[in-house]
This record gives sequence, structure tokens and C-alpha cells, in this order.
Amino acid sequence: MELRKFPGTDISASVLGMGCMRLPVLDEENHPIDEEKAIKMIRAAIDGGVTYVDTAYGYHNGKSEVVVGKALKDGYREKVTLTSKLPLWLVEKREDMERLLDEQLKRLEVEYLDFYLAHAVSSDRFDKVVELGLFEFLDEMIAKGKIRYPGFSFHDNKEVFIRVIDSYPWKLAQVQMNILDEFNQATMEGIEYAKKKGIGVVIMEPLRGGALTQSVPAEILKLYDEFKVKRSPAEWAFRYLYDRDEIVTILSGMSTMEQIEDNLKIFESAKAGVMEDQEKELLKNVRLTYEARVRIGCTGCSYCQPCPQEIKIPQIFKRYDTASMFNDLKQFYARYGEKPAAERCVECGSCESACPQNIKIRDWIKTIDREYRDTLK
Ligand SMILES: NC(=O)c1ccc[n+]([C@@H]2O[C@H](COP(=O)([O-])OP(=O)(O)OC[C@H]3O[C@@H](n4cnc5c(N)ncnc54)[C@H](OP(=O)(O)O)[C@@H]3O)[C@@H](O)[C@H]2O)c1
Repeated sequence: MELRKFPGTDISASVLGMGCMRLPVLDEENHPIDEEKAIKMIRAAIDGGVTYVDTAYGYHNGKSEVVVGKALKDGYREKVTLTSKLPLWLVEKREDMERLLDEQLKRLEVEYLDFYLAHAVSSDRFDKVVELGLFEFLDEMIAKGKIRYPGFSFHDNKEVFIRVIDSYPWKLAQVQMNILDEFNQATMEGIEYAKKKGIGVVIMEPLRGGALTQSVPAEILKLYDEFKVKRSPAEWAFRYLYDRDEIVTILSGMSTMEQIEDNLKIFESAKAGVMEDQEKELLKNVRLTYEARVRIGCTGCSYCQPCPQEIKIPQIFKRYDTASMFNDLKQFYARYGEKPAAERCVECGSCESACPQNIKIRDWIKTIDREYRDTLK
């Protein structure tokens, strides 16, 4: 498998990385990790050429780091670049940072981390931890040898991404990117900016958490089927990413051995710059076709809130649109039934006069309710 270099470091990593947020779990209360399976899978990925392993303090209720630590025994630690993350939401004072890092090193049973990331950076959260001394903490931990390189993982918009990039000499930025997110969150333009600044980009949610491979809508399957080269939806989604040389590693949260085997095969010949114009056109059409499935088009601005009947309109509409996009209304209605909005709506219309998208909110509440009742028949 191809190795790609993190600029400004002595680290090269496999283009497919092992994300340890979706390890296999047991069918028991609180769904503990199936340790035996998970350890086998992590080692199989490494034996197959994966050299990058990503975990975090909070994954699997704190147990991901423990299991990763076990998997990396017997010589596996030396074969990989190991990344974990500082849970920013648990940091109240400067001392919390080193205490959490020490706890993580203990859980993982390692002396140091190759990359340590500020986890899930967003604008407010970032300002708070910078104020508390995040940068000084990272410099100090590098000097002490507890971490090798600093980075951050990110879930906000492009403007915030650029502000964070420009604030510190990061070596790694982890962002959500996939066929559908070219213009969302950090955006592809943001990724290009990171590369210009000499920062290695790691991708998370390359399959949108699996949604791009589960119950793929018929019109999208048709687009894939009609293309001259046949590839699975997972392969297309990965190809869209490994084609970009701004990207160092693509994390996949593989939860079965079959997925590990499948992805190792897909990444066997992964190279940047291989996509032809026709392929780019196909994936653009796939994105547009997914987007056309959005029915309401709520942007989640919340101008309609508060509703006098306390109906959480943006949350309901956003979930409905996502479910429509991914052909997953069954799941949506399973949860909707707990609190049907139509039973509470008194049709006062205050939401509609505030909605900048001119959405016919009352009609949509009735439509969703009718569709919900149809599912009960
Ligand atoms: N820092 C952060 O804020 C943050 C946030 C999210 C993720 N991450 C990291 O990034 C990693 C990757 O993100 P992700 O787990 O969301 O990745 P993802 O690849 O978008 O989603 C993983 C899911 O995709 C499906 N999948 C994987 N390979 C497949 C294949 N060959 N064919 C069909 N389906 C396949 C599986 O779903 P099913 O098992 O359901 O079929 C799997 O659970 C995480 O594991 C975590 O390490 C970090």
C-alpha cells in the first residue's frame, strides 16, 4: 500500500488508516467492544499494510484506547503511527490537559503518541482551550517526549478552519470529507489551504459513517452501474479521496473483518491523480443526485425557534432530509413516533413568518405525520 508523507515531519503513513471508533461490539448492555475480534482486526489491518491507527479518549466509552493498546502489543506498536486526541470538552483548567494525556498513555500502555490532536475543534471550544494554554501545553509535551507532533480534528466551517490552521504550527489536520462534503465543514478548498501551509490532512467519515454504502438509492446505483468501470459504492467513495494528493491518510472506521479485507483490496493500488474527467463527472452527478433527494431543504438556521408548542422544527426537518437523502425514512419514523409534531402543532404559523427559506412548515409537519401514519398500517 502507498505511503504518504506528513509534510514537516519524519512520518510517512499508509493511505488507508484504521479508525478505532467503530470497533465490533458484543450484543450486551452498553455494547462493550468484542476485544478478541477487534484485536484480530486491528492486527490484520496492520499485517495488510495499514500503518496509521486513530483513537480518542471518548471512543467506545473510553475503552477504544485500552483495546488499541492491547492490539499494539507484540511488536505492533513499532509498526504504526499512533494518534489519540485530547477531549477538549473535559478541559476546565490547564492541568487537566496533561492529566488527560497521562491517563491516555496509561490506557494505551505506550510511552508516547506520534500525533496528539485537539479533538473536535469548533470555534468556541477552540478559543476556550487556547485561553487555557493549549499551545504552551503542546509545546511542553513535545519537549517532554510524550507526543511527537501536534494536530487537531475539526467540525466547523471553512473560515474557522483557516483561522485554526493559521494559529499554530500544526502538523496534522483531521477533517470530515467524502463525496457529499466537498463544500461542507472544512471544505475541499480548506484542505488545499492546509496543504499549502505544509499541514498533512487526515480524512474522517470517508463513507459518511457508512451511509454512502448502506441502502444506496436506486438512481445512484444506476449511475454507478452505467459507468464503464464497475466499482462498489465504497470503492468510489475512497477513490474520490485517495485521488487527492493533499490527503495523507484516509481513516476508515471498519467494524468487520470483511470490511478490512475489502478496504485493503481497494487501497492496494490507491494512487493520487488517477481519476479521469469522466469519473469526476460521475461523482459530481452522484453528489447532485443525493442532494436532489433532499425534500424540505431546511438549513437548520433556527429562525423558526422557539416554537410556542416547543416543536424542535429544525432538528426534525434536518433529520427528515438526511433520511430522505440516504433512503432511510424507516429509521427516521421509528424515532419520530415517540413525539409526533403534528399532535402538538396548533398551526399558529409564527414559524413560517420567520423562516428565511419560505418553507411551508405547517404543510410539511402534516406531510411527515401522514407518512408516519402510513408506516403504521
Ligand atoms: N475526530 C473526530 O471528531 C472524529 C469524528 C468521526 C470519526 N473520527 C475518526 O475517523 C474514523 C473514520 O470515520 P468513520 O468511522 O465515520 O468512517 P466511515 O468510513 O465514514 O464509516 C465507517 C462505516 O462505514 C462502513 N464501511 C466501512 N468499510 C466498508 C466497506 N468496505 N463496505 C461497506 N461499508 C463499509 C461501516 O458501516 P457498517 O458497519 O454500519 O456497515 C463502518 O462502520 C473513525 O473511526 C474515527 O477514528 C473522528
